[in-house]
Amino acid sequence: MKALRIMTVVGSRPQFIKAAMVSRAIVARNQRGENQQIIEEIIHTGQHYDENMSDIFFQQMHIPEPAVNLNTGSGSHGEMTGRMLEKIEKEIVMRNPDWVLVYGDTNSTLAGALAAAKLHVSVAHMEAGLRSYNKGMPEEINRILTDHVSSLLFCPTKVAIANLAKEGISRGVHHVGDVMYDASLVFDEIAGVRSRILDTLDLEPGKYLLATVHRAENTDDPTRLQSILSAFSAMNERVVFPIHPRTRSRLDALNLKSNITNLKFIDPVSFLDMVQLEKNARVILTDSGGVQKEAYFHGVPCVTLRDETEWVETVAAGWNVLAGTDADRIIASTRSLNIPVEHGMLFGDGSAAGKITDLLVKMGT
Ligand code: UD1
Ligand code: UDP
Repeated sequence: MKALRIMTVVGSRPQFIKAAMVSRAIVARNQRGENQQIIEEIIHTGQHYDENMSDIFFQQMHIPEPAVNLNTGSGSHGEMTGRMLEKIEKEIVMRNPDWVLVYGDTNSTLAGALAAAKLHVSVAHMEAGLRSYNKGMPEEINRILTDHVSSLLFCPTKVAIANLAKEGISRGVHHVGDVMYDASLVFDEIAGVRSRILDTLDLEPGKYLLATVHRAENTDDPTRLQSILSAFSAMNERVVFPIHPRTRSRLDALNLKSNITNLKFIDPVSFLDMVQLEKNARVILTDSGGVQKEAYFHGVPCVTLRDETEWVETVAAGWNVLAGTDADRIIASTRSLNIPVEHGMLFGDGSAAGKITDLLVKMGT
């Protein structure tokens, strides 16, 4: 039987983490000697390129070497997406895949989906159906357009399925669960054994807050960024803050990093170190999509530094509070958090990646 050819297009940190799980499922399927083998070729767009934003995830999570790195780098949305589109198109023509598999909602996602759809190659979208209903976010545009050109839409939650239904999309839609939950199950214990981050930073479990900030709506608005930093500095607790490169440049430009004694600014960390930091934090404060979910996976309460979220289930379950960027609200939310008793299976059962590969094979060439 002819092998199924899947071209995976990734370019940013969260996409490497998600793709790691699907690549593992593909390798496991091939090793089981199933009837139809899968040939996966990973196309790295080069959107993220620092060692600790890219290579470290490939090494630590044993992601197969990309077939090519398109080195598209940073730029404005149009520049990045345009450069990627042109290069991905050439790769699709040359490699002739049965499916192009894209992840999440970045410019790499949109470029991969558009290039494939225009060449009449089927698009599969992992993490389909998520909506913030805020079109001011570049991610919202990327998600909507990608969903509308996809033939297979892998939804992590029931809310995502309902969101697609509202836009008239029901064909090819599957509720598979969240591959990031798969990742947390696989790497939770490994992180506990291998990560030394708590010792390195001299942290005691449950005695610090973990913060991440990188959304353009927060980093590119000095008022919002200043307000977030003033909330962090007013906490009577240590705040560990792995800084995304986008955020570092904005904090440096505004000189916001000096004289905040309770804040520990660190470079972006590996996935195992991040899992270890998340699991042991008292509270997580973040504007990241992935980190909000991981807080829930690890049973750590989350304060989200945004006005809305795609992961509404975590808020409804009482584990996540939308605090926006008002300093008083962030401080009050962090101090007054209750840990709910209930902790249901909102994101599947850890088998999302296996379901995705099975569906790709079932849909065929
Ligand atoms: C991108 C995604 C966002 C996702 C995030 C994950 C888009 C529109 N945004 O945001 O949805 O949540 O990735 O982390 O696709 N930079 C470096 N080194 C790197 C990467 C970036 O220095 O390895 C700096 C550059 O100055 C760049 C800036 O960070 O201009 C922003 O990078 P970019 O990829 O445009 O967006 P992110 O903020 O990373
Ligand atoms: N992450 C990491 N190191 C860090 C910060 C985040 O490994 O220093 C991981 C985090 O555990 C999660 C993913 O990166 O799995 C989230 O990526 P990010 O916040 O950049 O993007 P988003 O999820 O908001 O798109």
